[in-house]
Amino acid sequence: QTAPLIDPFARAIQYLRVSVTDRCDFRCTYCMAEHMTFLPKKELLTLEELDRLCTTFVGMGVEKLRITGGEPLVRRGIMTFFEGMGRHLSSGALKELTLTTNGSQLARFAQPLADAGVRRVNVSLDTLDDDKFAAITRWGRLPQVLKGIDAAQAAGLRVKINVVALKGFNEDELFTIAEWCAREDLDLTFIEVMPMGDMSEEARLDQYWPLRDLRARLAERYTLIDLAERTGGPARYVRLEETGQKIGFITPLTHNFCESCNRVRLTCTGELFMCLGQEDVADLRAPLRASDDPAVLEQAIRDAIARKPKGHDFDYSRQKVAGQVSRHMSHTGG
Ligand code: GTP
Ligand code: 5AD
Ligand code: SF4
Repeated sequence: QTAPLIDPFARAIQYLRVSVTDRCDFRCTYCMAEHMTFLPKKELLTLEELDRLCTTFVGMGVEKLRITGGEPLVRRGIMTFFEGMGRHLSSGALKELTLTTNGSQLARFAQPLADAGVRRVNVSLDTLDDDKFAAITRWGRLPQVLKGIDAAQAAGLRVKINVVALKGFNEDELFTIAEWCAREDLDLTFIEVMPMGDMSEEARLDQYWPLRDLRARLAERYTLIDLAERTGGPARYVRLEETGQKIGFITPLTHNFCESCNRVRLTCTGELFMCLGQEDVADLRAPLRASDDPAVLEQAIRDAIARKPKGHDFDYSRQKVAGQVSRHMSHTGG
């Protein structure tokens, strides 16, 4: 093990998010355009290259790997990659191997994922209404996702539901979703929508539902107790005193959490984004392909981490969108 990765703001980088494909079988309206141009297959890192990159990061102190996309489970052969990463769990170098998925393929993959050492999955699900689900994902089918969630629980995986808070879309489902999660023993996190991609400023402002408002709504019915615990991700948690249910809030807009950032993002072409909310990117594919010497790749990673910015500039205040990033969220998987 080499020296740990520390960024210019003294933050230790221990969490790598890896987007293994830019493709997705859904087209959530806040995430992608309806007609996306996807990368030609030859641009992608091979699964062996992804393994080498992730292994290098693990050797440099990364303890948590989250696999994302696009939709990670649509990448062909992806289980080979998960199984390969499982060896870092066995060795103790990696503490957590996990993924964020839309759930569409989970019925098929839940058991193999559990066998590979995955213990938790995050499933993106913004509504429990079939028609609204079809509308927000453009053509996704809710029952298929619900089946996937069942399969994940049956395989012993802990499931967290990610709900992007969208004004005029799922405001009316706040309690329905919370109660469903409590009943089904699912963890739940609400997320503020971030200005990424090509959506117009008006459309973004129209859909933005600040989580402080959502929280106030919850507080009308329940007593909220703030919890100190963190999972190594950006969520802050509350417990509902009356039911014991725990709910997470990811609030890049109303309560910035950049000062405790511990993560960077790798894309399926070997780009490293040091911040979700900034455009700066380092190319790791060239050094990866230039040499088999691990020192070359390690140096490229250190140089990249040295460029990690303080945080994002997302801001919807004053009824204007600031800090918008033109890249779609699906490029880095959130
Ligand atoms: P755990 O805490 O391990 O469950 O993971 P997570 O909630 O960080 O991961 P997930 O992939 O479920 O992401 C949920 C949301 O958090 C997504 O919308 C991400 O874009 C957002 N998110 C994760 N990390 C960051 C970050 O560093 N900055 C910002 N602004 N958003 C983030
Ligand atoms: N703002 C916030 N979250 C988003 N996601 C996708 N696009 C956005 C956005 N613009 C969420 C997905 C998924 C996670 C990886 O990111 O719903 O849960
Ligand atoms: Fe696909 Fe997830 Fe983006 Fe929806 S949010 S289009 S499921 S990558």
